[in-house]
Amino acid sequence: MCGIIGYVGEHQAVPVILDGLRRLEYRGYDSAGMAVMASDRIQILRAAGKLANLEELAFDQPLRGSVGVGHTRWATHGAPTEANAHPQVDASGHVAVVHNGILENYSQLRQEFRESGVALSSDTDTELIAQLLGRESGTLEERVLEVFPRLVGQFAVVAVTRDEPDTVVAFRQGPPLVVGLGDDENIVASDVVALLHRTKRVIYLENGDIAVVHRDSVRITDLNGQVDRMVETLDWDPGRMDKSGYRHYMLKEIHEQPDAIRNTVRAYLSSDRTTVNLDGLGFDPERLAEVKRVHLVACGTSWHACLVGKFLLEHLTALPTEVDYGSEYRYREPLVGEDVLVVGVTQSGETADTLAAMELAKEQGALLGTICNVRGSSSWRLAEVSMLTQAGPEIGVASTKAFTTQLVALMLLALALRRSRGLADDLDRELIHQLQRLPLAVEQALEGEEQIYDHATELLSEATDSLYLGRGCLYPIALEGALKLKEISYLHAEGYPAGEMKHGPIALLTDGFPVVAVAPATPTREKLIGNLMEVRARGATVIAVAEKHAQDVSQVADLILPIPEVHHLLQPIVAVVPLQLLAYRVAVELGLDVDQPRNLAKSVTVE
Ligand code: M6R
Repeated sequence: MCGIIGYVGEHQAVPVILDGLRRLEYRGYDSAGMAVMASDRIQILRAAGKLANLEELAFDQPLRGSVGVGHTRWATHGAPTEANAHPQVDASGHVAVVHNGILENYSQLRQEFRESGVALSSDTDTELIAQLLGRESGTLEERVLEVFPRLVGQFAVVAVTRDEPDTVVAFRQGPPLVVGLGDDENIVASDVVALLHRTKRVIYLENGDIAVVHRDSVRITDLNGQVDRMVETLDWDPGRMDKSGYRHYMLKEIHEQPDAIRNTVRAYLSSDRTTVNLDGLGFDPERLAEVKRVHLVACGTSWHACLVGKFLLEHLTALPTEVDYGSEYRYREPLVGEDVLVVGVTQSGETADTLAAMELAKEQGALLGTICNVRGSSSWRLAEVSMLTQAGPEIGVASTKAFTTQLVALMLLALALRRSRGLADDLDRELIHQLQRLPLAVEQALEGEEQIYDHATELLSEATDSLYLGRGCLYPIALEGALKLKEISYLHAEGYPAGEMKHGPIALLTDGFPVVAVAPATPTREKLIGNLMEVRARGATVIAVAEKHAQDVSQVADLILPIPEVHHLLQPIVAVVPLQLLAYRVAVELGLDVDQPRNLAKSVTVE
């Protein structure tokens, strides 16, 4: 959460910073600001609300200078006001900082400044970093070396001082920071998306790193002295980061799913495409053979993918599999040891709770893997074995193509584990064959009839609540459908296992209450239909996701959002598509900000 950027180079800083912030805005959009160095002072602009407000301000009050920092905020400490926007400055106006993260010793530091008579001008923890740096003497690097050990919590900080107008210093403990090495310019940012269009050569900073950045040099140290960090060359195409004619990123990303799935499947099949091949990931076969249990840890939509993953892993490998929220796992003292494969599933690879759960598993000796969408991200670097989903950059806050590619990756992992245990048989051949046909099935699922979607959109957008039902490996899809609707349309929706409905939620049902049933052909469809009978008997309206001509479903459904039939273990990947489209349409119908829903941020880098 929060996007930060720092620029030192031959160009004017403002356009580079604003462009970077636009690309980082998915990380937070409560307020924005920037600081640009003049020869004798730090010029600051800040605005509450979206980046557009800062852009307007920058148009009215142009700042000149070729060194600066910028920030787009997701509020933690203090309301999203101008006073709490970043950059924050120390009392003497010498140092300005932008920050992503949370200081856990916030109260203690605040008290300390109050007692020493420093008047704080914001409610933020960030101002405390600026004040601490301002209180030290020496170069900015020397000040950072003094202050770093005093900060407790997670922080990625980019700082400038008027004493060194040609320098930017960045340091991190927790949230990500990457340095882009450009042509006569260097850029620091929270995410490569902010700098990819300027350079593909990057250095990912590690926890504890301090980068001293000039126009023509980058030097990295930690508290013990200079460190060497690898320069990596990114292979992402910056063109994949625009909307390509779609009205919203979310819609574009929904439609990118056939390609994303195709690329993910291809990346992990043998050259003759008959077996899953994870050899390139560096699994130690002996270590793998020792695995007796699997733990999947994640948050949000990625957690839903794990619920499907449990179903796949237990069904295909007979390995007992547990699924945990990252935020619960880290505090519940899980029974984890060397015979457990722990996989952190995360689109961004930067979700603080998932990373903390993974760190705990690593400390306890587990074999640690990750399924993530960002090469070089924190989870990628933390895990022993990293499996990359090939979804490409996902910008819309509501996760879509990352989810379906996570499901593909989990299926591939299950098939690989099955093979390594000598369990592979005809089912594997059938699933591998169907995996390769999956992009086509998803394309068909994207082609729902306008009229039916219009009707379903109307039913949901006119209701204040809805219930999403599914069974077996489609129950997590009900959860995911409900989450998609909630997060972008702000309508309450609850996902529930259909068989459990009679133990409580059935009380909600009244005439016309919308119930969305995830009802493609699976071994438990008959049971689900029985549950839908109970729904209909209470006058509720049923919108079902199923094959167009499924007779049994049409008897209990008012509307069918059509999908093609695939193997039931792959059905979650196809069945979620109409639910993504439906949530998108409802949010558009309600005139809401689909790509940047209120209160949310794409990558949640705080606990
Ligand atoms: O980057 P991650 O997959 O770790 O993110 C986890 C969740 O924050 C994320 O899935 C969130 O729930 C999305 N907004 C859902 O659409």
